Amino acid sequence: MHTPDEALPADFGKYRLEKRIAAGGMAEVFLAHRLDAPHEPLVIKRILPHISQDKSFVQMFTDEARMAANLDHPNVVRILDLGLVEGTYFMAMEYVHGEDIRRIYNRAYKLQRSLPLSHSVRIIADAALGLAYAHKLQDPLTDEPMGLVHRDVSPQNIIVTYAGDAKVVDFGIAKAAHKVQQTRAGQLKGKYSYMSPEQAVGDPLDHRTDIFALGVILYETTTGTRLFKRHNELATLQAVMKCEVPPPRQALPNYPPQLEAILVRALAKRPERRWQNGAALSAALYDFLDDAELRVEREQVGAFMRDLFADDDPAPSPSAPAPSRASEGRGSGLEITAAARGRPRAPPPTAGMASRDHDPASPEPAGFAA
Ligand SMILES: Nc1ncnc2c1ncn2[C@@H]1O[C@H](COP(=O)(O)OP(=O)(O)O)[C@@H](O)[C@H]1O
Ligand SMILES: [Mg+2]
Repeated sequence: MHTPDEALPADFGKYRLEKRIAAGGMAEVFLAHRLDAPHEPLVIKRILPHISQDKSFVQMFTDEARMAANLDHPNVVRILDLGLVEGTYFMAMEYVHGEDIRRIYNRAYKLQRSLPLSHSVRIIADAALGLAYAHKLQDPLTDEPMGLVHRDVSPQNIIVTYAGDAKVVDFGIAKAAHKVQQTRAGQLKGKYSYMSPEQAVGDPLDHRTDIFALGVILYETTTGTRLFKRHNELATLQAVMKCEVPPPRQALPNYPPQLEAILVRALAKRPERRWQNGAALSAALYDFLDDAELRVEREQVGAFMRDLFADDDPAPSPSAPAPSRASEGRGSGLEITAAARGRPRAPPPTAGMASRDHDPASPEPAGFAA
């Protein structure tokens, strides 16, 4: 059953749905709470009715939700419950008080502000730790590796909290490698512009597809340009398959060579040439931040978030205090964004995230749609 916004709040099993946060092709996501704990916000993700009737999808959703229920890491959203209410499958998870990277990008663009490069790097480095943990997860009963691969790492699926933490969400289409039934042709899942080349051609995948996707997000958030996004899906897929990566210096003349090298390795066409795991990628990114004296703490990222969304309405959380304007948010770690000053047509003072899309093949402005 689809619940129109006017019908909210609405009871759903032992939960009350308060507000819709997102609605995609497969599921709706609600801010909610348990009926017996009205002051503890959580999130319910509910499969859409017509999808709930698709047996293979439901099998996939429940298998994966069960696996995801074992995930317990600060950089991965925590799954709390899983079940069926009136024929509809749902998942309850921790409420993450923050905004996903796509919203951050779009908000920064709207305000003509930039996400400091230091912040982007830290966010991606932390997300990489969450993925590294998920990739290594073992079955608690057998101690066998579960082979969990996210498969849909994208800006919408990384949330940055107002405390400055990065959390990976939406393991909904992840698959255990040992259970993979090859995705049938025409059933490509995920967002094309964040697919790896092997995913785009439908080859077998492993965790290194997630490393590639993180690389794309890092490229885009640090250069302010889209990497593979083209004017239509076919063109985007072709760009992914070709995997040509324009040097980031084309967008930002002072782009740090050390970061560029990390990026090139994350974006290698062949998985064996990439960073082999999220921990290695994360360590390289933190080393870069230290070497370049750009290290920022989570508090600074949190302050930046609160500042960026200070006047946003509605307030991000009904129960949490409204985000306060943080004076330290703007200046910290910004040095590197001055790199874009040399760039003739970038709208000042923005660099990084808020600069416009320079890709002539991509007429879309800097919006960060999938
Ligand atoms: N636990 C959560 N806390 C806060 N926001 C969330 C949470 N889970 C998802 N969201 C928001 O809802 C959006 C959609 O959720 P997601 O699980 O990614 O569903 P979909 O399968 O539709 O992509 C996310 O991009 C994020 O902005
Ligand atoms: Mg998602």
